[in-house]
Amino acid sequence: MTEPTYLTATRSGYDAITESCAGPFRAALDDAPLDRALLAALAEMVRRDHPDPLTVEVGSGHGGTAAYLAKHGLSVSGIDLSTAMVEYARRTYPEIDFRVGAMHELDIDDASLAGLVSWYSLIHIPESDRPAVVAEFGRVLRPGGYVLLGFQAGDDTLHFDEAFGHEVSLDFHRLDPDAVIAALDAAGFELVARLVRAPEARHTSAPVPHAILIGRKLA
Ligand SMILES: C[S@@+](CC[C@H](N)C(=O)[O-])C[C@H]1O[C@@H](n2cnc3c(N)ncnc32)[C@H](O)[C@@H]1O
Repeated sequence: MTEPTYLTATRSGYDAITESCAGPFRAALDDAPLDRALLAALAEMVRRDHPDPLTVEVGSGHGGTAAYLAKHGLSVSGIDLSTAMVEYARRTYPEIDFRVGAMHELDIDDASLAGLVSWYSLIHIPESDRPAVVAEFGRVLRPGGYVLLGFQAGDDTLHFDEAFGHEVSLDFHRLDPDAVIAALDAAGFELVARLVRAPEARHTSAPVPHAILIGRKLA
């Protein structure tokens, strides 16, 4: 079966820009105290409720967010569409398992994970496909497992034909938190936390609010 064109475009876009974007994207978390606080809280809740805190970051890119979660006690691995990103993450964090995969069809057993994080990766899924991807997150999480989603909030899409000096075709969708919460609800999650924060002052290239949602899978 041929894959959707957006997946091919996203993969080749990130393959092209990995060596240029991974460093700056990786540094962003150092400058975002609220983001670190919510990721650390997610890690604490997963560890509190699950003796085996098996967690996956989908769209793990450079690997820095997965490494932050590992530092907070989670047994974490990363999955990313882009082979170049996976190679970068493996090189940078050799102690963590990173592999190539797509978030709409995860190579993970039903109800096997205690945690799943999508940190600025759901933003590459078009609106029509987002509920099915969130349902896939629900499939792989155990009852009581936690999902954390981070994304720019809004209703428009930024399209780039060029990035970091490379020709690409990359869409960055901003998401409506209410619509994502509705998708979580339909996928069997209860909402644990919803944070909408202002952009960090130094990240003025995308001065839009950012949202972080945490959900818990119902039995
Ligand atoms: C903006 S980067 C975010 C990287 C990382 N999560 C972080 O902490 O900054 C988006 C990443 O999601 C990946 N991605 C996009 N669509 C994906 C999909 N359908 N399945 C898996 N990964 C995907 C991209 O290859 C890219 O590495």
